[in-house]
Amino acid sequence: MFISFEGIDGSGKSTQVALAADALRRAGHDVVVTKEPKGEIRTLLVEGGADRWSPLSELLLHYAARQEHLLHEVRPALARGAVVLCDRFVDSTIAYQCGGHGLNAEALVENLKLEIIGETMPELTILCDVGVEEALARAGKRPGNETRYEGFGVEYMQRVRERFLQLAAADPARIRKVDAGQAVNMVHAAVIAVMNQSYGLQLSGNKND
Ligand code: TMP
Repeated sequence: MFISFEGIDGSGKSTQVALAADALRRAGHDVVVTKEPKGEIRTLLVEGGADRWSPLSELLLHYAARQEHLLHEVRPALARGAVVLCDRFVDSTIAYQCGGHGLNAEALVENLKLEIIGETMPELTILCDVGVEEALARAGKRPGNETRYEGFGVEYMQRVRERFLQLAAADPARIRKVDAGQAVNMVHAAVIAVMNQSYGLQLSGNKND
């Protein structure tokens, strides 16, 4: 099982990844929680000024990070039979670089997807959808120096959200939208319902079960 979680900054998806991992572990699954971008390339992408990279360089850096992540973490984990929960994956590249920045690079992303991701696509992607104002209010300031994406502004994040919604509408079999504007436990229940339905599982969202 390879499941990605997507959503705009402040959508609460990282909390949902952690809760979903707990539910899977309670049911006896070996779970690997991971995220993109990671490592040294993450630092290049999330620190510094908004204009540090051109949109195309940014896209290529995200793909370089993805290639290393797939090679060293995701594929080995899947090969040993673990469930992999990934906080962001390829849909973020389309939503942020193509949608947010308006970079006309969908064809390039498709080619990179074939070369770099190949068969290693999540069977399920959970889109935590929430309004931009609410998400930004929730997100507040990023800790430390990871402030670069804040510099792109509200309209940028609106375009990102729109693109995520378009991706979900275009691929409803893989991308399942949950209303992330609800209370955390309600969102968790919706996530568990989607996972149960997609994989024929009987996970419980309740810690005491
Ligand atoms: P995070 O804070 O959710 O870990 O993600 C860091 C930032 O990277 C976030 O603002 C979204 C952005 N991002 C992209 O722009 N393109 C991508 O392909 C990925 C994976 C993340």
